[in-house]
Amino acid sequence: MKKLSNSARYKLNAVCPYYTMFPLEFPMAVLKGADRNSIVFDPFCGRGTTNFAAQTYGIKSYGFDASPIAIAIAKAKLANTDVNSVMELLDELLQLPNVKVPQGEFWELAFHPDTLQDVCKLRDYLPLKRDTDVVVMLKAIALGCLHGPMTKDPHNPSYFSNQMPRTFSTKPNYSVGYWKKKKLFPIFVDIRTPIRKKAEMVLKYIDASGARPTNIVCTDSRKPSGYRKIAENIDLVISSPPYYGMQTYVQDQWLRNWFIGGPEHVDYDINSQVSHESPEAFSKSLAQVWNNISKRASEDIRLAIRFGGLRSRKGCYDSILRESFKMASENWSIYYSRNAGSSYKGRRQAETMGDRAKSSPIDEKDYFVRFT
Ligand SMILES: C[S@@+](CC[C@H](N)C(=O)[O-])C[C@H]1O[C@@H](n2cnc3c(N)ncnc32)[C@H](O)[C@@H]1O
Repeated sequence: MKKLSNSARYKLNAVCPYYTMFPLEFPMAVLKGADRNSIVFDPFCGRGTTNFAAQTYGIKSYGFDASPIAIAIAKAKLANTDVNSVMELLDELLQLPNVKVPQGEFWELAFHPDTLQDVCKLRDYLPLKRDTDVVVMLKAIALGCLHGPMTKDPHNPSYFSNQMPRTFSTKPNYSVGYWKKKKLFPIFVDIRTPIRKKAEMVLKYIDASGARPTNIVCTDSRKPSGYRKIAENIDLVISSPPYYGMQTYVQDQWLRNWFIGGPEHVDYDINSQVSHESPEAFSKSLAQVWNNISKRASEDIRLAIRFGGLRSRKGCYDSILRESFKMASENWSIYYSRNAGSSYKGRRQAETMGDRAKSSPIDEKDYFVRFT
């Protein structure tokens, strides 16, 4: 298959990095022969790669995720708007009165004070707007531009911040130490420049499908309540549950989480993620999700699951997944599984940001599941 990451259409999928995404090729390949009237669902949609792939084929999809950052990005994949509307909304918000900005060394070094004021205007004023497609898109684009490498050309920045990785937010103390050691100071960034650049890049290829941003829901997929939002029976699930041992999805994106209304510090007290306490607890969490799905499933539902684990928890990911289906109340059967290749090949979702040596990825597998 042609490498989708190089294609122009892929640009919208890249509106904001989300470090555990699976490659677009996976859902695209699963959906290739699918009936266009199918209903697709991803209970761990992350940045909405499955939903984006479904939209590409004109197939209606739903996505759930417990991380509000993932949801903000995934919604933008289904939004239909244009560069001018995004820029008009941005100008409107930047003309509003100044707002309070966070104080302290991190904030002084992370952004130029005038840039921080503009970022905070977006942060405070965007949630006061109705969640229209243009609001959804501006939020996701701003999230994507929030932090990243500093530009060599100060007139053409791509990110708002002082030097930082693009894919994850470094913790405050580490960041301050790094900037001081390297004598890096934030330059003034007119946030309209990175936002326009990104909008022009990602908004070239918008497709309309039956799905709207409202089909993406911020919810714990273990809980039955969110499933009421799915109006039809689900025909196809394409998903990648959190890899066993990876649970800091929100903390590793703490600055983006701040931008969408979270605290000014790293919050370790978030418990809506699947339990990583033990392999049994993890399997049980997944079984709850399969049970919820089976109540909304069409008779010949198929699941395509990409799953893996970290080296530090070597070996058990395969049995965790198999156990989860045994624990579920319906009779699910894994009718086919295959090695998805090493996590080091290409862009992999198990790319972690913390201690790479300890938590480096191991092989991932694809599992294909149906009712017996
Ligand atoms: C491996 S990532 C999925 C990435 C996705 N395939 C993509 O392409 O972006 C797993 C996702 O599961 C989410 N998650 C973890 N526990 C969850 C729960 N209980 N309910 C819903 N989502 C959850 C995490 O926030 C994370 O976004």
